[in-house]
Amino acid sequence: MCGIYGIIGKCKNIDKVAINALYELEYRGYDSSGIAFLNTNKEIKVIKSTGKIENLEKNINNHEVSTECLIAHTRWATHGKISTSNAHPHTSENVAIVHNGIITNYEELKNKLNSYKFYGECDSEVIAKLMDYNLQRSKTALEAFCKTIKELKGSYAIECIVKGEYNTIFIARKESPIYVCKYKDTVIASSDLITFPKQTSTYFEVSENQICELKKSKIKFFDLELNEIKGTSKKYDINENKVSLNNYSHFMLKEIFDIPKALNDTMKKLESSDKLNIDLSRFEKVHFIACGTAYHSACVGAFMVQSLCGIDAQSHIASEWIDSPTLCNKNHLFVMISQSGETFDTILALKKAKQNGCICLSITNTSYSTLANLSDYVLPIVAGKEVAVASTKVYNACNLACLYLANKIKAERQNLELNLNDIKIDYNEITKLLNAEFEKEFANTLINYKTIFFLGKCEDYITAMEASLKLKEITYINSSAYPSGELKHGTLALVDNETLIIAYLTNANYTDKMISALSEVKARGGKVLLLSNQTLPKALVDYSIKLSSGNSSINMLLYSIIPMQKLAYYTAIKLNKNPDKPRNLAKSVTVA
Ligand code: G6P
Repeated sequence: MCGIYGIIGKCKNIDKVAINALYELEYRGYDSSGIAFLNTNKEIKVIKSTGKIENLEKNINNHEVSTECLIAHTRWATHGKISTSNAHPHTSENVAIVHNGIITNYEELKNKLNSYKFYGECDSEVIAKLMDYNLQRSKTALEAFCKTIKELKGSYAIECIVKGEYNTIFIARKESPIYVCKYKDTVIASSDLITFPKQTSTYFEVSENQICELKKSKIKFFDLELNEIKGTSKKYDINENKVSLNNYSHFMLKEIFDIPKALNDTMKKLESSDKLNIDLSRFEKVHFIACGTAYHSACVGAFMVQSLCGIDAQSHIASEWIDSPTLCNKNHLFVMISQSGETFDTILALKKAKQNGCICLSITNTSYSTLANLSDYVLPIVAGKEVAVASTKVYNACNLACLYLANKIKAERQNLELNLNDIKIDYNEITKLLNAEFEKEFANTLINYKTIFFLGKCEDYITAMEASLKLKEITYINSSAYPSGELKHGTLALVDNETLIIAYLTNANYTDKMISALSEVKARGGKVLLLSNQTLPKALVDYSIKLSSGNSSINMLLYSIIPMQKLAYYTAIKLNKNPDKPRNLAKSVTVA
């Protein structure tokens, strides 16, 4: 998965415009980046760099970029190591392309194209060679592009420029998004609307089985028989997606401090979507499906539905569920959770559920996303754009949407109106947790541990899993989460006086069992940090974070993660790691 961008037309500092767009697409991957353009001699020029976009920016500054037609790319490596040759744009003699997705039949195509010399290991290179091959066997570049697209298997959003076709970018997509807009004298294509100029309010979505041809001030659409067809335009308020750091040092910290606003805005939106036109009382089971942090929200959703509605609910990791035996029927509701709405595994899960005749509702922060478009119903999150790779405020907001959904199912099953007063958000407690200094200090202690285990039971185990993921993602410290009662069945073997245990306890029903688990830890010399609304015997606890006792453990799922989001952040800072862009990861994973 990667970010792609293209611009055509008269534009001052076109290279700077493209670089700024790549900065905004960096969340899709940042291993390497590049641009290709048609210069005034109608030749294709390519500039590529490994590492951050900054490197490309410096590299471009040493070149003259004089063009009205440019494509650009930021990469997250899948096929082939991080290197300049594997970076996009990929070329053949007459063609340059940028690609987001995976070409699954690239080996087969490579064999067919054995007269071409391949310079890298990236699957995308085959697209450039295939286009070149088809150019020589077609009357027009458009026809060649269409032939090329028909031969590709896998997922793709592609932009292609051709030597001699001075003012044209060809575009096609399958399962990876790409949007197009007009602005002043330019036409722009991009993986995300966020890169479009603030002043634009209308965009075109390139559909699957279409070719889009961008010319100066012209956008044309064709079907795969090359009949010209009408594109569908949509309205969108781009402004809502523009973000800045304000006075924060990193987006992750800013986004943690955005949590009250994310919850408040989401609640307002949920209140207004109260007319969710769906009979929730008829479902016998609810499946929650997602990946990464969103999967932990899925666990929260399943827990809330089971606890509040007394019906069966299950959470699934999307990549597992798509290949598992299908145990569902039309009386099951599927809830897909995704910040970006573009996570490929989650989209595949949605497609599988729909093929089985099930109703799909998605909880997403991106109203125009593929997931939202494919879902029968959408429960929107309004957390604002999340930039840091490790998700924070969206997790809290998704948990709120789950709480809303569980309460709504409960109300409908009891034939009652949903009472929104049942959903309380304790802003005082959230502010207190946000302003606490403990985590910043404790990061100095935490960095001394090589092994960290997070413990919790039921709802607290879900928070423990998310806390462990946050710490791993951005500090690279090895940690795992265990249900507190499970520790003694194996993992206890690893506990000694160099082990830190971080335990969550928000439900008094689990106190005795947590005391047993912590006693087992202390007997082996482990150190304990407890996050709880209760006070446990001093001998069991080395450090503690007090959570307020006024809320139910279900309501605490909206915020009890905050101290661990902060601790992960401050630990990354202590270790000199960039919390916004952890190594090897990307914010939006658009490949299987
Ligand atoms: C990636 C990100 C995670 C995120 C997951 C699901 O792996 O690094 O932070 O939780 O994708 O993303 P989604 O957009 O579907 O919530």
